[in-house]
Amino acid sequence: MGIRPIIKMGNPILRMNAEVVRPEDVHSLISVIPDMITTMREAKGVGLAAPQIGISLRVIIFEIPSSRATSVKGDQPCGIQVLINPKIDPLTSEKELGWEGCLSIPELRGEVPRYTRINYTGLDAEGSPVKSYATGFHARVVQHEVDHLNGILYPERMVDLARLGYIDEFAEAQETQTLKNDITRDGNDNG
Ligand code: NI
Repeated sequence: MGIRPIIKMGNPILRMNAEVVRPEDVHSLISVIPDMITTMREAKGVGLAAPQIGISLRVIIFEIPSSRATSVKGDQPCGIQVLINPKIDPLTSEKELGWEGCLSIPELRGEVPRYTRINYTGLDAEGSPVKSYATGFHARVVQHEVDHLNGILYPERMVDLARLGYIDEFAEAQETQTLKNDITRDGNDNG
């Protein structure tokens, strides 16, 4: 199928708790995962969750470009990663604020607190176990995508809704240096 339509905030599927994929059903995702990758890249996103293409299963993908992996020492870029039934284990109670966008909430950006260091686990596209560690932007993207599986969109995580707005207006006003840097770097901070 290739590129699939991305559903937007307001669609009830985005509010649902997505279903766990049974190990024996991993192979049935063979048509879904390539479409998720194509759809994410076409939309210039760094992450996508299956519910965003209307499939309420616990599957996420993400890809951290080197341009977005430099904010924290040790925060490595990450090639395309498929994660089925992902689980997050925060390694700290510390959270930091950072700007996020979402392909299901086009044109908006908001400042969201996220854990700075996490372990995460799940299954890859072949059903093999994945265990990894992430910091900074990488950790942020994983938390954003796993939230999608629990029916949570990033504005619900925000502590100050005054920090929610349209990216072109922020860019115009040069609202924050951080966001401006992100926009000018590559703009692909949607998940
Ligand atoms: Ni999103």
